[in-house]
Amino acid sequence: MFKRFRRVRTNRAIRELVEETRLDIRDFIYPLFIKNGHGLKKEIASMPGVFQMSIDEALRECEEAIALGINKILLFGIPETKDSIGSDALCEHGIIARATKEIKKAYPDLYIITDLCFCEYTDHGHCGILDLENGSVDNDATLDITVKQALVHARAGADMIAPSGMMDGFVAVLREALDSEGFVNLPIMSYSTKFASAYYGPFRDVAESVPSFGDRRTYQMNPANRREAIAESLEDEAQGADILMVKPALAYLDIVREIRDSTLLPLCVYNVSGEYAMLKAAGAAGVIDYDRVLLETMLGFKRAGADMIISYHTKEVAKLLDKKGS
Ligand code: PBG
Ligand code: ZN
Repeated sequence: MFKRFRRVRTNRAIRELVEETRLDIRDFIYPLFIKNGHGLKKEIASMPGVFQMSIDEALRECEEAIALGINKILLFGIPETKDSIGSDALCEHGIIARATKEIKKAYPDLYIITDLCFCEYTDHGHCGILDLENGSVDNDATLDITVKQALVHARAGADMIAPSGMMDGFVAVLREALDSEGFVNLPIMSYSTKFASAYYGPFRDVAESVPSFGDRRTYQMNPANRREAIAESLEDEAQGADILMVKPALAYLDIVREIRDSTLLPLCVYNVSGEYAMLKAAGAAGVIDYDRVLLETMLGFKRAGADMIISYHTKEVAKLLDKKGS
């Protein structure tokens, strides 16, 4: 009888030897939502375990993350006041500038990535400055303020910036501005292939960034497009991105694999809010073995070709991997 595959599955030792993909907490980036205030830690209904936090609470959260072996975070800010151009994001006393400074001071070894975008900061909830004539986001005006935001973050001590607004040309202008201001060593992780996805729903509740009119389809990508998805990432590579990204993750693993095979750059996936909410809801309903489904999902991202994963599950993953290893 033909026997080839089952020989290498007979016990744990041989299964370990032939295992092709492994999860490692060092590949995970943990997102945090920072809001003004003191002693604020407000859980989001659709995302149990995810909170809006004031800076003091975020510091406590960082300490907990570090104790679990997590050393990379991604910061999002929710400002006190919003206006048409997202001024809080452009000011050195804005929420993310302050959070970055304080976290860096308390935990110098914690690697801080800051999200560059304006949807959390504008009163209209779009990712940049509006061009009122055609009711859309003005690409080049938004590039100008994105550069300002990047420099505010860099001066506050961010270790890496992650532009997520999907404006054409943003990597090139950011690289040039960072270099000319002396931040030649500050990498850019571009949200290079970001789809206009319904999976961002819960995030917009946490980040208070629901657009007040319309949607993001004039700047984020059509989920139907595969070739364009590759072209977007290759363009950002050409403009000088250090790390590329596919977002969301779960429904786009074909894109992850194809970009992986089309570039030599490191590739990140963003396991987004709606993906998190779905797993949480299924776990709470008792219809899946939550822990196993969670690790299997993360493994799928890595097997598809992701080098790193941004996930709200990062702390849970750390705990599960710890348990598995011991
Ligand atoms: C900001 C931004 C979004 C996410 C990350 N950065 C939301 C959006 O584009 O509406 C989504 C993250 C998530 O859903 O977890 N542009
Ligand atoms: Zn945005």
